[in-house]
Amino acid sequence: MLEKSFKLKNIENRYPIVQGGMGVGVSLFELASAVGKKDCVGTISSAILDQLVPLRVGGDRMSNIEAAEREVFDTKQVGGVAAINIMCALVSSYEDSLEGAIKGGVDMVVSGAGLPMNLPSQVKKIVGTNDHDVNLVPIVSSARALELICKKWERQGYRPDAIVLEGPKAGGHIGWSYKQVIEAGADFLKKYDLFDELLKPVLEVAGKYRNDSGAIPVIVAGGVYTYGDIRQALYLGASAVQMGTRFAATKESGFTDESKQLIVEAREEDIVLGDDYWGSPCKLPFRYLKKSPLVDEDRKGNDFCICTTLLGGVGVDNSEKLGTKEFQRGCPEKYVLLPGKICPATGATNYTPMVSTGTEGYRVDKILSVDELVDELVGL
Ligand SMILES: Cc1cc2nc3c(=O)[nH]c(=O)nc-3n(C[C@H](O)[C@H](O)[C@H](O)COP(=O)(O)O)c2cc1C
Repeated sequence: MLEKSFKLKNIENRYPIVQGGMGVGVSLFELASAVGKKDCVGTISSAILDQLVPLRVGGDRMSNIEAAEREVFDTKQVGGVAAINIMCALVSSYEDSLEGAIKGGVDMVVSGAGLPMNLPSQVKKIVGTNDHDVNLVPIVSSARALELICKKWERQGYRPDAIVLEGPKAGGHIGWSYKQVIEAGADFLKKYDLFDELLKPVLEVAGKYRNDSGAIPVIVAGGVYTYGDIRQALYLGASAVQMGTRFAATKESGFTDESKQLIVEAREEDIVLGDDYWGSPCKLPFRYLKKSPLVDEDRKGNDFCICTTLLGGVGVDNSEKLGTKEFQRGCPEKYVLLPGKICPATGATNYTPMVSTGTEGYRVDKILSVDELVDELVGL
């Protein structure tokens, strides 16, 4: 059984397991609160909470601040530790999601899909001081990125409370460019192997930039699948693991039943890294299931582009806005994953899900409850 707890500023979890934030709509209140209740860290994805939270609580569309506050507050009421994942790529809602989450009492802010260079100042602007209870946790994929963040944060008088080191086997977006993926070819996963290549240099930088309680804790992510993997990660110096795929395939995840079934049926060769066409606003490669209905049907109608969603929802004609400032990252042709559940919020009648898992998604053979999964992962 896992004996090591996971401590950060003002929080202590019995188990060193963080459920990764999963957008759009995959990790919401239902999943995060169930994970928190099992003494792990539950993470809400901030993506389009303004449209998703009213689906759960009723009422009209909320502001991003109200929605993040409500989702975090309700999750915390269940009793566990609550984190929020805010992607840097969601530029227009970033600060509102942050403010709402802090008002709701969030314990940890995890931020990637870009480097959250100004997160400490953004939090300070909201709470008025650097001396607060919120753990600020950037996601990086290399020692170099960590070093950059530490230097930039130091100028804001803050050091990361922990970091997530995400390797190339992760679900969702990965932190390497298309060029790096193509150049490494068949050796890509080996060249950037989480444990063999990435962890050691990152632990060195984390040791160099110590925070008040010692070296910056490193949470590893990407391909961690079993109790044995978690033990190995801890043995190699990680303070905790972050897992996405395992939690995406639980009863409490926001994926539709159809999407969960696709994960159960997926074979290793069905899980692929997107090329530019199947990219996303983050401009980073995205891992998805080849059998996702969106890909199978090859719908190019652009009705499930996240930009479309952010600009008012499916069914709204945004064609005149293409190429304008409102598409801040200029990605109107590209898709991101959608679990289907968001569609009622956006007015779609015939959604087409895009399903993502990490490389190990093919090993899922059954949809477990969070309760069953955590018991398995901690070796009970
Ligand atoms: C369906 C899915 C959606 C994800 N969405 C996000 C996201 O919105 N933001 C983010 O930082 N990471 C996202 N991730 C990455 C996870 O938080 C986690 O770091 C990663 O899945 C770990 O790798 P694993 O899937 O092998 O466990 C996503 C992962 C999955 C499987």
